[in-house]
Amino acid sequence: MIALTNTYQRYGLVAIVLHWLMAVLLIALIALGLYMSGLPDVGFNKQKLLLIFYHKEYGILALGFVTLRLAWRIGNALPALAEGLPDWQKIAARFVHLSFYALMFALPVSGWLMSSAAGIPVFFFGFRLPDFIAKNENLFQMLIEVHKWLGYTLIGLILIHATAALRHHFLSRDDTLKKMLPGMRD
Ligand code: HEM
Ligand code: HEM
Repeated sequence: MIALTNTYQRYGLVAIVLHWLMAVLLIALIALGLYMSGLPDVGFNKQKLLLIFYHKEYGILALGFVTLRLAWRIGNALPALAEGLPDWQKIAARFVHLSFYALMFALPVSGWLMSSAAGIPVFFFGFRLPDFIAKNENLFQMLIEVHKWLGYTLIGLILIHATAALRHHFLSRDDTLKKMLPGMRD
């Protein structure tokens, strides 16, 4: 039975659940974000507005999850990377992990600020969230660009990270992926 907390050898159940739950949620938010922003604005596009509503709600959920996840990571052992990696790979792996945390905060926060700048409130399952900035058309346009490029950066890092994980598993045949899966080690 796998432990809830991390050890220096592997991730525990809480970190594993948060990792895969967030991976699915973030990939779904990216796909939805790309799809909905490509829909035409003409007239009153009810479908687009509904999709944006869901994207915002689940984007705020991701902000809640990453807050828990960061707290858990800070309070837990950090499993070691695979043995024998060259220094540049160790640095690259940790850099990508830290960049993920930065992006997992920056994306929802920029989305939230973007909505406030557009003068459109953000709801979280029935609760209206506060606006931290006032309506401002220029800022709104700028934040759309910021949010978009943060999203593209996240896509690039996911591709690098997932490729590296699969490479470790199938080519190097080490424990990297098993550490992040329940019941495949110990
Ligand atoms: C981790 C969470 C999030 C991810 C990964 C994400 C990702 C994306 C992506 C990839 C796009 C498409 C960008 C484009 O091609 O133009 C997008 C659009 C958008 N996102 Fe997010 N987003 C997140 C959270 C949020 C939140 C919390 C809000 C608001 C509260 C939000 C509001 C929007 C809006 C309004 C658009 C459409 C912008 C436009 O009009 O083009 N997003 N998002
Ligand atoms: C949105 C997608 C993803 C994000 C944001 C993400 C983020 C992270 C982060 C931040 C870590 C460091 C541990 C932690 O703090 O939780 C990690 C570890 C890991 N991830 Fe992901 N991940 C994603 C998708 C994937 C996918 C698709 C795979 C596999 C194909 C994968 C495989 C792994 C593995 C094997 C580790 C452990 C690496 C090690 O410690 O040596 N991840 N991930």
